[in-house]
Amino acid sequence: MSDPTQRPQSTRHLLDLADHSPATLRGWLDEALVIAADRQRHGRRPQDSERFLTGRYVSLLLEKPATRTRLHFEIATHDLGGRAIVLPAADTQLSRGETVGDTARVLSKNTDLILYRARRHQDLLEFARHSAVPVINGCSDHSHPFRPLVDIMTFEQQRGPIAGRTVAWPGDGNNMLNSFIHAAALLDFELRIATPEGHEPDPGVLAWAAERGARVSLHRDPAEAVVGAHAVVGDTFASMGVELTPERLAAFRPYQVDAALLAKAAPDAVYLHSLPAYRGQEVTAEVIDGPQSLVWDGGIENKKFLLQAIFRWLLEL
Ligand code: NVA
Repeated sequence: MSDPTQRPQSTRHLLDLADHSPATLRGWLDEALVIAADRQRHGRRPQDSERFLTGRYVSLLLEKPATRTRLHFEIATHDLGGRAIVLPAADTQLSRGETVGDTARVLSKNTDLILYRARRHQDLLEFARHSAVPVINGCSDHSHPFRPLVDIMTFEQQRGPIAGRTVAWPGDGNNMLNSFIHAAALLDFELRIATPEGHEPDPGVLAWAAERGARVSLHRDPAEAVVGAHAVVGDTFASMGVELTPERLAAFRPYQVDAALLAKAAPDAVYLHSLPAYRGQEVTAEVIDGPQSLVWDGGIENKKFLLQAIFRWLLEL
């Protein structure tokens, strides 16, 4: 909560996975896996000595809807002894034209860590430039950095290390996918992407991955992407702020994950989805509610454990 004009250049943020090293990502995942095992298997809750947010405030600034992110952010904070303040942006002076920079100054002067679900990635970057405390990207139009890590964590709980495995993404070249591409390069798994024409992921992100020798391939045919994969990942065909027109729905229809498409994956393949899910669009009920889906097991609990590990790293505690 120091003066932003005196901000140390070393303030840690999580704006994109690409800003971090493979070792840092692995560290968050390994710590989150231990927290999850302690909590889920042994029912162990944080001891007083581990409640490192005691006496601290964290804030959540939301320009878009949030269910799981808000829930997990609040639970993670309270479990660690801290207090979470949720600010729907529409209720703040941002809605009357206050700048993101001024908002960042105010929040970072009064709270110790901020999660910002920004509509525009540029606003997130501007916000972080003015923040004296760590900022987490809580899903911008460009990327959603911690969400793929939740899926990877869930995969690893059930199937072991992600390194060397194959993940298929049939669907939109969206924010989640950009972060999945970063994760593939940094955590060394193969990522096969199938999108309709004109909906490919960000070329800059693909170029970044190619420079690092990442095994990321683009396909038009979803079956080609899914064949033999160890995990199939789904997401909405229209991200927040994007209109699902009849033309868009028609273009994406072949990318729906149904039982026939999932059957082309490895026999023990798992299905993952960041939610919210639209049954009958990107996935059938048979798949998302079926035996290969991990969506309703670890997938909906792990975010709070991962956030705890990321909080500790960001606050350097
Ligand atoms: N791509 C989705 C992710 C939701 C968590 C969206 O931006 O709406």
